[in-house]
Amino acid sequence: MERLATEAPGPPAALTGERLRSHTADVLARARARSAALTDAVDDDDLVRQHSKLMSPLVWDLAHIGSQEEIWLVRDVGGREPVRPDIDDLYDAFQHPRARRPELPLLGPAEARSYVGEVRSKALDVLERAPLEGRALTRAAFAFGMIAQHEQQHDETMLATHQLRRGEPVLRAPAPPPRRATAWPGEVVVPGGPFLMGTSMEPWALDNERPAHEVDVAPFAIDTTPVTNARFAEFVDAGGYRDPRWWSAEGWRYRAEHEITAPRFWRREGGTWWRRRFGVDEPVPADEPVMHVSYHEAAAFAAWAGRRLPTEAEWEKAARFDPRTGRSLRFPWGDDEPAERHANLGQRHLRPAPVGAYPDGASPCGAQQMIGDVWEWTASDFRAYPGFVAFPYREYSEVFFGSDHKVLRGGSFGTDAVAVRGTFRNWDFPIRRQIFAGFRCARDLRPDEAGAGV
Ligand code: AVJ
Ligand code: FE
Repeated sequence: MERLATEAPGPPAALTGERLRSHTADVLARARARSAALTDAVDDDDLVRQHSKLMSPLVWDLAHIGSQEEIWLVRDVGGREPVRPDIDDLYDAFQHPRARRPELPLLGPAEARSYVGEVRSKALDVLERAPLEGRALTRAAFAFGMIAQHEQQHDETMLATHQLRRGEPVLRAPAPPPRRATAWPGEVVVPGGPFLMGTSMEPWALDNERPAHEVDVAPFAIDTTPVTNARFAEFVDAGGYRDPRWWSAEGWRYRAEHEITAPRFWRREGGTWWRRRFGVDEPVPADEPVMHVSYHEAAAFAAWAGRRLPTEAEWEKAARFDPRTGRSLRFPWGDDEPAERHANLGQRHLRPAPVGAYPDGASPCGAQQMIGDVWEWTASDFRAYPGFVAFPYREYSEVFFGSDHKVLRGGSFGTDAVAVRGTFRNWDFPIRRQIFAGFRCARDLRPDEAGAGV
C-alpha cells in the first residue's frame, strides 16, 4: 500500500482572528468553571487540608493555576507588570514536593480566589490584544491553549484529591450512558507497517507530542475495550496478587512492601467487591473499565492473561491509524472535536462508562473507548520523539524523560476534551494508583494470523 503519511490540522488552526479569540476565551472559561466547582464544593478547612501525602491541598492547585497563567499569559505574552512576583516560588512545583506544600505560607482560600480572578481578567485583556501569529508562543493562541490545558490537568488532579478525601459525597453528576454496542470481538487486529505517530500540525499539541514521525509497527492484536472490573476480579480471585510468576521483580517488591491485594479503593465484603467512589460505597460494577491500578498491577494482569500491555506506538496506531487511507486521524472517530456521543470526558460523569457505551467513538481498526473513561497504561517509558524540542519550558516534559515514568494514553472521565487527543501523552510513576488509570491488553500475532491479509 502506498504510504500517505499525512495529518489534518485541527479546528483551532482553522479558526483565525475574532473566532479564534472567542473560542479560546470559551475554553478558558470552561476550565475556570470547573476549577471553581471543584474548590467551591468543600469548605475552607477542607481546601487547606492535605487529604493525602500524594496530593497538594486544593488551595495550592488553585493558586498554582493562577501563577502559571500569570507567568505565561500576563507577563510573557502580555508583557505586563507582575501581579504577585512574591509568590512565584511558593507555586513552583519543582521547589516544593506535594507532601510539603501544606506547611508553606500559601494564599488562603479567599486570597487564592481573588488572585486567580485578577490574573484571569488580565489574561483575557491580553487575549483581546495579542497578535495570534508570528512567534510560536502566540501563533494560533498556543500559550492560551497551553494554559487552558494546564488548568484542566490540575482540575483532574483536584478530582483525584476529591477521590482520596474522606467524608460525605460533595460532587454530583448523572450516571454515564449504558452499553450501546450489542456485541464486539474481544480484540481487533491492527495491520503492520509504518504510520505517522505524533503531530506537527495540531496547533495546541504540547512539546512532547511533536514532531510527527514515521514509526514501523509489526501487526498486533489489541483488546477492543479496556479491561473490565469483572475480568480484573477474576485475576484477583485467582490469587494473582499472591503469585510472583505474573509480576516483574520490581512490581513484586512494590506489591509486598505496600501489601497491595486489589485495586485501590476496593474492599471485599460478603463475597462481593465494593469500592469507595467520591464518598459513595457501592458494589464494583462488573462491566466498567477497571481503574486505580498501577502499571505493575496492569502488567501482572496481562502476564496472567497470557498477553502484554501495548507499546505506546501500538496504542496510538490502534487509536488513530486509518488503514483505508494510511492517514493518522486526530481522534479515533476522525478529525472532529470530541462530542458527547464519542467519549466519556470532562467530568460529565463521575465514573467510567461500561464497555460498549461509545460505539460512535470507535477507531478505524475497531478499538472502542480509546479516548475517555480511563487513562491506559502502556508498556513504554516516557521518552522524547526524534526531533523533540522543549517548548516553551523544559519542566513541562523534558525533565521527566527517561525510565522512571511510564506513558499513559487516552484520558479519563475526568479529562477535559482540550487536554486529550490521539497524540496526547501523559506519564506517571509505575507505582501510582490514585490517578484514573486502567489499561487494555495486546499481543503479537502468530505468523498464520499475521499473514492473513489484514
Ligand atoms: C502531564 C499530568 C503528568 O500533573 O504532573 C501540570 C501535568 N505539568 N503542571 C502533572 C502538569 C505541570 C502533569 N502531567
Ligand atoms: Fe502545574
